[in-house]
Amino acid sequence: LPLLAGMVLLLSACGRADLSTLRPQGPVAEEQFGLMKLTITIMVVVVLIVFVIAGYVIIRYRRRPGDKSIPVQVEGNHKLEIIWTVIPIILLIIVGIPTVNSVFGLAKDYTKDPNAVQINVTAHQYWWEFEYPNLGVKTAQELLIPEGTIISVEAKTADVLHSFWIPSLAGKVDTNPGGNVNRMYFKADHTGVFLGKCAELCGPSHSLMDFKVKVVDKASFDRWVAAMKNPVALPEDQEIATVLNKQCLTCHAIGDKGVQLYPNLTGIGSRESVGGKLINTDQPEYANEGSVEENLKTWIKDPQAVKPGTLMPKVDLTDQQIDAIAKYLAGLKLDY
Ligand code: CUA
Repeated sequence: LPLLAGMVLLLSACGRADLSTLRPQGPVAEEQFGLMKLTITIMVVVVLIVFVIAGYVIIRYRRRPGDKSIPVQVEGNHKLEIIWTVIPIILLIIVGIPTVNSVFGLAKDYTKDPNAVQINVTAHQYWWEFEYPNLGVKTAQELLIPEGTIISVEAKTADVLHSFWIPSLAGKVDTNPGGNVNRMYFKADHTGVFLGKCAELCGPSHSLMDFKVKVVDKASFDRWVAAMKNPVALPEDQEIATVLNKQCLTCHAIGDKGVQLYPNLTGIGSRESVGGKLINTDQPEYANEGSVEENLKTWIKDPQAVKPGTLMPKVDLTDQQIDAIAKYLAGLKLDY
């Protein structure tokens, strides 16, 4: 019973629909949830039967006052031993067949399917890069996908071991060093924002290595792809444009400008968070920190304070320059 109570407590923490394996939002997550339900049901039934038998035996054969006799000593019982070996074997088969079936079913290869959206996921310490190879678009931290469409993922890492996990949609797939590419697919039944996590200890900011999956309708998705490819204007202020070119665009890309080494910043003003961590209040669903602009300032001023171990350096800029750059970046919004 304490075990059951503990499980209920633990699982109740998984209440957020956007971060819960217990409220699947697509067919892959649903199939995985089905396996969990089957396994948990069997476990609970076994636990209950064992508890009832144990309780009965404890009471029925308790030591009674005045009784000093030693119970009959039994050694071995073939019938019982066969029963308690065969029952677990049958239970394991009941769990094993659908599990193996799902493992192979969910390994289906959609990488050549013209109706699937192909995504190359690259995990970095501590952010996620999303490339749409067939659409010529790269982004970071927020994976935008169309609803009701197979999303075919090829995942790899740029550094250490990470794991790509979207609890309410599918999960999880490790990204292994050494040039390994792992494949998975998933589908979201409806629009919404779902949280993603890095599910493998990868360094001091592992727990902050979050991302989001934004599911939109197909027309919005097409508009987003087009908007991502629009040319981007640099700040009008010459000094700020120079600072941006020298300090930011040597690592980051914004639209057609800059270099894609670290998170692509195209449309960063439309994202839900900065650095995957500071939640933007302009995005009502998760309002609790600051505006995009405020969060960008916090981030640029001291990235290590937000995300320990991040490779984003503290850039040598005046407060005025940081303010201007944060304002410019916050203004990079995408209409879709
Ligand atoms: Cu990346 Cu944990």
